[in-house]
Amino acid sequence: MTSNELIKKGSNFLKKNKIKSHIIDAEILLSSISGESREKFLLKSNLEMSQKQIKSFNNLITRRALKKEPVAYLINKKEFWSMNFNVCKDVLIPRPETEILVETLAKYFKGHNPFILDIGTGSGCIIVSLLQELKNSKGVAIDISNKALKIAKKNSRIYNTSKRIKFINASISNFNSFKFDLIISNPPYVARHQFKNLDIGIKKFEPKLALDGGNDGLDVIRKVIYKSRKILKNNGMLAIEIGNGQYKKVSQILKLNKFKEKFLINDYKDNIRCILSVQNHY
Ligand SMILES: C[S@@+](CC[C@H](N)C(=O)[O-])C[C@H]1O[C@@H](n2cnc3c(N)ncnc32)[C@H](O)[C@@H]1O
Repeated sequence: MTSNELIKKGSNFLKKNKIKSHIIDAEILLSSISGESREKFLLKSNLEMSQKQIKSFNNLITRRALKKEPVAYLINKKEFWSMNFNVCKDVLIPRPETEILVETLAKYFKGHNPFILDIGTGSGCIIVSLLQELKNSKGVAIDISNKALKIAKKNSRIYNTSKRIKFINASISNFNSFKFDLIISNPPYVARHQFKNLDIGIKKFEPKLALDGGNDGLDVIRKVIYKSRKILKNNGMLAIEIGNGQYKKVSQILKLNKFKEKFLINDYKDNIRCILSVQNHY
């Protein structure tokens, strides 16, 4: 069977099972089996595939279609900031919205060397991408999950940033070391009552520790803001990603903790997704 025939067959099966991204998913799964990037693989039209490759492809398509496993977990990779991050079920799959945060911070700190803290680093996608842009910066990445931290370390080694990042297995509540110019966090922010509304692929496969923000979704956000007040240098910046509809409440918590909002970042659907604020000393 050829690659084109397999992609068509796989994509039709995904479509029948209500997977919206059926074509691209089938393309990514087959190119991953062939060991090439999707772009390169699609340029080589109609390759003859081996029996072993066909079997592996059918297996992945079935898991995607019937169990709704996310493609990133099936191939253990996710593209973020034009890099291929290793992922597994111990880390959140990096999201395109988070790339907007990296883009904004890379522009803002261009030519500077901020000392950075990434709270809840997960796959390490934020700090590794940012240190790729800010070549003389250093940072600390913490996560309450030791398993996540192992993946983050692996990614930082692959992208040559491991000498500039110190990884610490800790909750933000117990972290008191150093003072930072920039603190970034994409914390868990899903309110418990909203869990049932999440996509099945997220609910079933992504780590609960990476999603669960407590009763109102703001438990970890509060901890991040409260701690940042103590461990940011004067005029340091806090950049925090928030969930849909959380802006007003988070804005109040920031004000109560003497932060002044500097920029807001909207996502592709025009929801306020990130708040960048500085400590307000007056
Ligand atoms: C939404 S994920 C973000 C992962 C990654 N930074 C990203 O943007 O893709 C949140 C991460 O915070 C970690 N986490 C949850 N509670 C924490 C806490 N109290 N202190 C430190 N990390 C925490 C989780 O283990 C998870 O890796």
